[in-house]
Amino acid sequence: MTALSLTINGRAHGPVEVRDDLSMNDFLREVLGMTGTKFGCGAAQCLSCVVIIDEPGGTSYTNPTCVVPAINFNGKHIRTVEGHAQGGVLTPLQTAFIEHFSFQCGYCTAGFLNEGQVLLERLAAEPIPRADLEQTILEALDGHLCRCTGYVRYHQAVRDVILADAARYLQAEAGMTGGAAPAAKGDRR
Ligand code: FES
Ligand code: FES
Repeated sequence: MTALSLTINGRAHGPVEVRDDLSMNDFLREVLGMTGTKFGCGAAQCLSCVVIIDEPGGTSYTNPTCVVPAINFNGKHIRTVEGHAQGGVLTPLQTAFIEHFSFQCGYCTAGFLNEGQVLLERLAAEPIPRADLEQTILEALDGHLCRCTGYVRYHQAVRDVILADAARYLQAEAGMTGGAAPAAKGDRR
């Protein structure tokens, strides 16, 4: 057993004694009852279970929770899907996922949402050329598996949020709308 303390969605948790082999996914879902973080493959392959880890320097990244012991998150600040909406108001990315019908069963959605949010924050800090946008989104969402709607609608939703605030996310020459949807993975709707 090890004492675990961490901050989740801005709220401090612990110290609480946890088994050393308790996964972070089980800690969130079974100990804290935060079931928004899903358990899919259990093998770090589908990324449905990722949460956001915020680093002290202001950068963030996503990390699977299914194969990682909870004690590895000791002292960290993380965000889960439950932390996105504030006061019942959805974020632009959450709204875009709904408007684009990006999900059906929703099992993969928390993972895509966390990944997309990290991308938005990265681009806000380091805007990119418009010409690089499609590839940047593809690379950011790469590895997230969806068995229902495919991937195009997630991609389109992320792109729409970026283009709707192009001055924030794209370099000066950007700001135009439009562009072809990616053809890497099929839209099954
Ligand atoms: S459940 Fe963690 S990567 Fe699939
Ligand atoms: S919406 Fe069902 S797995 Fe993606």
